[in-house]
Amino acid sequence: MKVLVLGARGQLGAAIERAAPASWDLIMADRSMADLAVPGHAAGSIAAAKPHAVINAAAWTDVDRAEEHEPLVTRINGVAVGEVAEACSRVGASLLQVSTDYVFDGSGHAPWTEESEPAPLNAYGRGKLVGERACQGHGRACVVRTSWLHSGHGRNFIRTILRHACERTSLRVVDDQIGAPTQADWLAATIVSITERGAAHGGLPPILHAVPVGHASWHAVACHAVRTAASLGMALQCSAEAITAVTSADYPLKAMRPQNSRLDARSLDSLLVQPRPSWHEGVEATVRQIVQMQP
Ligand SMILES: NC(=O)c1ccc[n+]([C@@H]2O[C@H](COP(=O)([O-])OP(=O)(O)OC[C@H]3O[C@@H](n4cnc5c(N)ncnc54)[C@H](OP(=O)(O)O)[C@@H]3O)[C@@H](O)[C@H]2O)c1
Repeated sequence: MKVLVLGARGQLGAAIERAAPASWDLIMADRSMADLAVPGHAAGSIAAAKPHAVINAAAWTDVDRAEEHEPLVTRINGVAVGEVAEACSRVGASLLQVSTDYVFDGSGHAPWTEESEPAPLNAYGRGKLVGERACQGHGRACVVRTSWLHSGHGRNFIRTILRHACERTSLRVVDDQIGAPTQADWLAATIVSITERGAAHGGLPPILHAVPVGHASWHAVACHAVRTAASLGMALQCSAEAITAVTSADYPLKAMRPQNSRLDARSLDSLLVQPRPSWHEGVEATVRQIVQMQP
């Protein structure tokens, strides 16, 4: 199967490259091959490659900076996805579009299902929702929503927390946003598996949620990461006990974040061979990667 991945150099793109089976004829497309800011660029690469499947892991992901660049963000995360979906339809390729919990407004306490009504709070979420809607009507497109991605590579919360915990004796982390930290290698393996399943069974549902089991606040995630790193011998200045829980109001950022980011991923279970891991296992795997990469 020929598979073209957009966002080759990103946290998830790199994990997909590691997870892809040797049987795939894999084309890893970075920005130079498919710049989503440039109309028609990605579509041209898809038309030239004629893949069986496209996985779009490329996106503008700086949530706060997105507030000041909404037209460009909407172009990259939204309008370009429509062009990619049309290009896929023209060559008969399936499309797996990665999306986010940030399409929801975070109200209530129940997990959001695939059928829940999106109402994004920030420019990043609005752009991603434009992308989701652009996939609708393309019969072989599947939107995979995930949350709080992390891995040993790239920019993510776990790496930031451990870096700060090595440099400072105390930290403040918000505890009023609840979600599921998702390990990029697990998500990549899941994407590989459902892409193959979609090819074998003639398609996938239009929307799927892909997160591990359980939920936590950013504060609880930070504490678990620091405890795990300490148990693995990382030289930290800050213990989990020295991480203070604060509210989002105490820690103002440019973009508003949803308070309830829980995604109900039970639909995914029937498509997977292995049970979904707990978020704790994913955080531990990322911390192990970070510790192993230390000089
Ligand atoms: N990170 C999270 O917490 C999170 C949570 C939920 C959903 N998601 C979604 O998961 C997906 C993967 O996220 P990630 O964490 O892997 O993000 P990432 O590490 O920031 O990677 C994003 C990739 O997109 C590429 N990109 C940005 N603008 C582009 C453009 N104009 N044209 C082509 N490529 C462009 C970047 O290219 P360069 O390397 O050239 O900059 C980068 O390789 C995204 O769809 C994101 O919305 C992420």
